Amino acid sequence: MKIQFTILLISILTFGNSYSQKAGSATISIHETRVEYLENPEGIDIPHPRFSWILKGEGRNRFQSAYQIIVTSSLEKFIKNEVDIWDSGKVNSNDTNQIEYDGIPLKSDSKYYWKVKIWDESGGISEWSAPAHWSMGLLNFSNWKGLFIGHDVGYNKADKYDSLYLPPARYLRKSFKLNKKIKKATAYTTALGLYELRLNGNKVGEDYFLPGWTDYNKRLYYQTFDITDKLHEGENVIGAIVADGWYAGYIGYALLVRLDKVREFYGVNPSFMGQIHLEYEDGSTEIIASDKSWKSNEGAIREADIIMGETYDARLENSGWDAPNFDDSEWKSPKIYTYPNGKLEAHPGTKVKNVEQLKPIEITEPSPGTYVFNLGKNIAGIAELKVKGNKGTKVQLRFGEILKSDGHIQTENLRKARATDTYILNGNSEETWQPKFTYHGFQYVEVTGYPGIPNLDAITGLVLSSIETNASTFNSSNAMNNTLFKNIKTTQSANFFEIPTDCPQRDERLGWTGDAQIYMRSATYNSDVAAFMTKFLVDLDDAQRWYGAYPNFAPFPYSRPNQYAPAWMDVGIIIPYNMYKVYNDTRALDFMYEGMQKFMRFQEDASTDYLRPGGGNNWGDWLAVNEETSHDFIGAAFYGYDAKLMAEMAEALGKTEDAAKYRNLFENIKKAFAKKYILENGQTTEDTQTTYALALYFDLYPDGLAKKGAARLAEKIEKNGYKFTTGFLGTKHVMLALSKYGYNDISYKIFQQTEYPSWGYSVENGSTSIWERWNSYTKDDSENSDLNAKMNSFSHYAFGSVAEWMFQHAVGIDTEDSGYRNIIIKPAITKEMDFIEGSYKSINGTIASSWNWKGNNLLMNIKIPVNTKAKVTIPTSKEANIKEGNKSLNKHSSIKVLDSNENETILEIGSGVYTFSIKM
Ligand code: BGC
Repeated sequence: MKIQFTILLISILTFGNSYSQKAGSATISIHETRVEYLENPEGIDIPHPRFSWILKGEGRNRFQSAYQIIVTSSLEKFIKNEVDIWDSGKVNSNDTNQIEYDGIPLKSDSKYYWKVKIWDESGGISEWSAPAHWSMGLLNFSNWKGLFIGHDVGYNKADKYDSLYLPPARYLRKSFKLNKKIKKATAYTTALGLYELRLNGNKVGEDYFLPGWTDYNKRLYYQTFDITDKLHEGENVIGAIVADGWYAGYIGYALLVRLDKVREFYGVNPSFMGQIHLEYEDGSTEIIASDKSWKSNEGAIREADIIMGETYDARLENSGWDAPNFDDSEWKSPKIYTYPNGKLEAHPGTKVKNVEQLKPIEITEPSPGTYVFNLGKNIAGIAELKVKGNKGTKVQLRFGEILKSDGHIQTENLRKARATDTYILNGNSEETWQPKFTYHGFQYVEVTGYPGIPNLDAITGLVLSSIETNASTFNSSNAMNNTLFKNIKTTQSANFFEIPTDCPQRDERLGWTGDAQIYMRSATYNSDVAAFMTKFLVDLDDAQRWYGAYPNFAPFPYSRPNQYAPAWMDVGIIIPYNMYKVYNDTRALDFMYEGMQKFMRFQEDASTDYLRPGGGNNWGDWLAVNEETSHDFIGAAFYGYDAKLMAEMAEALGKTEDAAKYRNLFENIKKAFAKKYILENGQTTEDTQTTYALALYFDLYPDGLAKKGAARLAEKIEKNGYKFTTGFLGTKHVMLALSKYGYNDISYKIFQQTEYPSWGYSVENGSTSIWERWNSYTKDDSENSDLNAKMNSFSHYAFGSVAEWMFQHAVGIDTEDSGYRNIIIKPAITKEMDFIEGSYKSINGTIASSWNWKGNNLLMNIKIPVNTKAKVTIPTSKEANIKEGNKSLNKHSSIKVLDSNENETILEIGSGVYTFSIKM
């Protein structure tokens, strides 16, 4: 299909776009057209998909005044401009996202082509956007013809706590002949377990860890692949390799704490299900579905487990098994398994991909024959091995995040995660191998059993992630902070892996909800996580406890009661709120609303006089140092925050009665909270940094006392040598609360701190990632055995939640409404730093802001995307001291002075690039 698409593009570029009305004077162009946040997605199953695009254009104050979308059912019609599906007509609106398809019902197994054009502020018409498409998956149960097929590999009944059970992968194949020319071929495939789809000797698609992790009792995602150009006349072979994955393999810490179940949380036998839909040029159709006629076998993958690792015996390869001309007479008929209870649905998120390849920067040999490859940064992913040697030679790969003082990798912190891959050579020629169904969190790869002395080429690090961290840039006059920023991105990439995990290395890798909610807003600055989080909302909704609490992690495979905790369970409110705030996504709110209300009722029931107690599992301000905040305080504070966000979300959905109810609830909580926890002098009863940070940021201070509370927080931090005492919950809120109340200089002092506990401390200790603990490691104490053996991850994004402050305050980019249409540019400008520059690619395009001291002059560069406007705070009250592009403000008709107070002037600007120089 790609080929046809390219031809279409060429024809449009060559012959012009005949459908387009004569373009007016507008120089606005349309970019990044998306459907459901995704670029040309295959197989979605949403009846009214949402469109979005980004506008770019020269000059200032540019905006869209209207748009028109057209959708056709075929390329031919698209080219001829025969609009048979939907023509929105000219819609007078400046919306560029969350625009719902509103045409005739979309059909199952169908591809659609679309484009959009816009009218600018003076009625000029843009060119049509580049052609884009999406396809609908299988929308009805009756469309599914495939059976769930697998292969019987027996079962090992050894004691579950004493030995690992790691069955081999299952291989499935089907040969079929095509005698006619194909017009279109689509594969719809899934597995209970993990699968890789193969076609005529190659992997189909680029994704890893398909079909993704869900509560398989509730839903199972399938994938759609356009395979039109991968089939040929004559014999074709479709194949699938299936492994345990999350469905049947080890998950999390179950083995460590000896839960009843340590694996097989959803089922025992992984199986594959799928079908190919063929549409011939003569108009006839055919479906080739997984059934008894397929063949099954074992093969070279002898062990395959997400957290334990993979073993590949190349001597057992059935070479050519997934291609034509293979003799499968020895293969068996597959075993048929029952259909799962869960619904079959299209994966709504972004899938795991290889986003970067790393060449080792060094090899060491800490003991004879043990080689350690340093990949330069702490990632999640796999290692590709290149090796040549005798048949039967066994090469073992183990993975570590740091080295011990003797140069060996540290594996104690992996706990029960074996994280070991083994490759057994077939001895033919140079062999290249990478595992398919496991991944590790690591910077170092330990190689043993390598024949001869390996060179740097022997190992390549493949970084795997569900996201790209390319939405933000940050640069400042402090090199440590710049490294910190890189480390935050590295760790976000490592943990946005199908779900937001706590860490990628040890026997955990769970969607811990406290971590996810704390980091959510930071995540959005670094990456477009709209689709990724849309999927996680489904996980949260599926995992919500029957009594209303959101659990400690989602998906939640364990059957353990009362798995919820204050600040963890609040994820079900905080993530949807941010989806709305950042992406203007009210559909996410709609989807979660019932569950959120149930959660609010759960909190109400648990409260006495509007105070929600700690309750559930209690981690408090997890990993705080030297100060402890009571769980009841945290419980009560987050309940207040939830009520406040609920009011805003209800309003956004037009539920005004609910909004009033939650506003009222918030006021009542605020009163009760203040009565119990805030003293008349503005101090909190517990007087910890975290208590001030939460109460101030959540607006729980009674009017008039907040300033005193903020002053006390500032004083405490100063007295503590500009260092934290906070854990997961307090840390980012300290930064946000200080800046909210004007204590930016103090925020910057903590931000640049290098003594423990601080971010700078990890950077100074050579970190390439964000650590779980403030003191995960010191150069002098790399053994730190007590910590290392228990829980000491070097890839935990929770403390990276400072990114929210970095963008909202240091760079100064925020949104006043939802979705960055009314942008706030308010950098926290300080003499503590020489300059800061950053950018954020919002759903409306890239916003940039920088500030730079030139002696007593301040330079501010700002870029605002087309179709948005911004309120810019300039840190002087003297309008006369502000120039833009060397002209005073009153010479600019389009820059409005909105307000000024004793310290600042607030301007309103439209799209464009601005250079302000300010005499301070
Ligand atoms: C995880 C955390 C999580 C915590 C709950 C840990 O094991 O790694 O990130 O939030 O448990 O206390």
